[in-house]
Amino acid sequence: MEITNVMEYQEIAKQKLPKMVYDYYASGAEDQWTLQENRHAFSRILFRPRILIDVSKIDMTTTVLGFKISMPIMIAPTAMQKMAHPEGEYATARASSAAGTIMTLSSWATSSVEEVASTGPGIRFFQLYVYKDRNVVAQLVRRAERAGFKAIALTVDTPRLGRREADIKNRFTLPPFLTLKNFEGLDLGKMDKADDSGLASYVAGQIDRTLSWKDVQWLQTITSLPILVKGVITAEDTRLAIQAGAAGIIVSNHGARQLDYVPATIMALEEVVKAAQGRVPVFLDGGVRRGTDVFKALALGASGIFIGRPVVFSLAAEGEAGVRKVLEMLRDEFELTMALSGCRSLREITRDHIVTEWDRPRLLPRL
Ligand code: FNR
Repeated sequence: MEITNVMEYQEIAKQKLPKMVYDYYASGAEDQWTLQENRHAFSRILFRPRILIDVSKIDMTTTVLGFKISMPIMIAPTAMQKMAHPEGEYATARASSAAGTIMTLSSWATSSVEEVASTGPGIRFFQLYVYKDRNVVAQLVRRAERAGFKAIALTVDTPRLGRREADIKNRFTLPPFLTLKNFEGLDLGKMDKADDSGLASYVAGQIDRTLSWKDVQWLQTITSLPILVKGVITAEDTRLAIQAGAAGIIVSNHGARQLDYVPATIMALEEVVKAAQGRVPVFLDGGVRRGTDVFKALALGASGIFIGRPVVFSLAAEGEAGVRKVLEMLRDEFELTMALSGCRSLREITRDHIVTEWDRPRLLPRL
């Protein structure tokens, strides 16, 4: 069957993958309310397209932290991609550089920073989880720098792992033939089987729950790479992140895998954008599955978006070709959305091209 949209890969992945792996990729926390809301919220934002504009040429290129990319669609960090496909993170790295965009490599990748770098040129960011042992962190950051990674995405929403009930039921753990490659030499690459989620136990044992704003400053003393704070969803934290020296903010609820009943990221975006006051770029991840979603995020002030699950599901289905296809489909849909909205460049996408629930009065006839 021909694949015509990104979402279709999920069902194929479900059929192909062992249940433990599929559930780990697909799940959200607890009631999974936020998981559904991350998608549903996009459907409550409608377009106000402009017509009769020459859209024969559309430019989707943009610059992120000084790096020119082909489109504002990037790859979020998702852990353990070799569970989806033997080539795992290599395939994702190749697909994203072929598409001319940025890949973020997870701390918990099943390929190391050096291995991913060896796949060839490409603009890559490194996602960081802060371990209790700060020597581990400092070493890893140095290795990422040396391997040519261009920024650190510091994940700040995970002092403990969210309660993902499927992982508890399945006793989720990393399959024995794989390791968290970045930590292999440090004796932290394996995940023990636990009597709940093996990952939740690993996090409880290794990840630093004391992490606070001062550590964002500490991180800047050990690296000159720009730091994106990943997991901000309020104006208050936006201001603190900027004060702490963040080079950018990623509005993220971790794909609804951490605190359930936080709003969809697309609902939180505008608050963050307003608080950032243009001082740093704001990005979004969570539930982006269509080119129209990308457009909506940009209209609300995002400088770009990241995709998570579509990458692991398409990897499972078709490896590198699947990830390429996902990026291509999103690019084509986004280009079409721009054309049908009368926007020829990202700069032309404005707040007036959409209407949200919180702009209700606009929908009423003028008196
Ligand atoms: C993630 N995410 C994540 N985030 C992070 O900072 N480090 C990580 O290692 C992971 N691992 C991970 C694994 C899997 C299977 C998923 C689904 C997610 C969160 C990820 O970066 C991103 O925030 C969300 O995936 C975005 O939402 P969508 O696109 O999956 O809806």
